[in-house]
Amino acid sequence: MSGAPFRLAPLDAAHDRAGFNSDSEPLNRYLREQATQDIRRRVAACFVASADGQRIAGYYTLASASVLLADLPASTGKKLPRYPTVPAVRMGRLAVDQAFKGQRLGGALLADALDRAARSEIAAFALVVDAKEEAAAAFYRHHGFIALPASPLNLFLPLATVQRS
Ligand SMILES: CC(C)(COP(=O)(O)OP(=O)(O)OC[C@H]1O[C@@H](n2cnc3c(N)ncnc32)[C@H](O)[C@@H]1OP(=O)(O)O)[C@@H](O)C(=O)NCCC(=O)NCCS
Repeated sequence: MSGAPFRLAPLDAAHDRAGFNSDSEPLNRYLREQATQDIRRRVAACFVASADGQRIAGYYTLASASVLLADLPASTGKKLPRYPTVPAVRMGRLAVDQAFKGQRLGGALLADALDRAARSEIAAFALVVDAKEEAAAAFYRHHGFIALPASPLNLFLPLATVQRS
């Protein structure tokens, strides 16, 4: 995100969660009402993009996950050990405020999530996402994600392919 004025950091008390307004009301409500509790309970981590440390331009969440080996494309699965599941990191939510759409912030948030997952000392094979609809799946495919053969709204990107910063 070179040249962009945003800083990406963990959600904290100084951020204005109530003012966030993306196209998705469930994603606005999650940030307003649920994110802080999920962080406290260690069921999700939440990272936000903000220029001033208060107004939130976009956010995403990360949590540990696993994928059934049998759900991956055969060409991917055959290169992995024969355990029933492979470790992954799930980006559960991703949203950009309407005022900041189309400025590549969504792509920058995705890159930041991939970078954090790839830098972790805890091994994960892929970043996985559950797209809510076909338009969101198209956004992820545009960024190199691969759909699971039997469920096209569930996509993954192997972290070995991510260029670490
Ligand atoms: C999806 C969303 C996060 C995209 O954020 P954004 O900042 O507007 O998108 P960007 O400007 O970063 O787009 C980056 C690239 O993705 C492309 N893109 C954006 N939306 C796309 C879509 N639906 N299908 C295909 N490509 C798409 C852009 O053309 C751009 O391509 P380029 O870099 O080659 O020029 C945003 O529109 C949003 O918050 N939507 C509502 C919530 C949502 O759907 N979240 C998805 C998780 S379910």
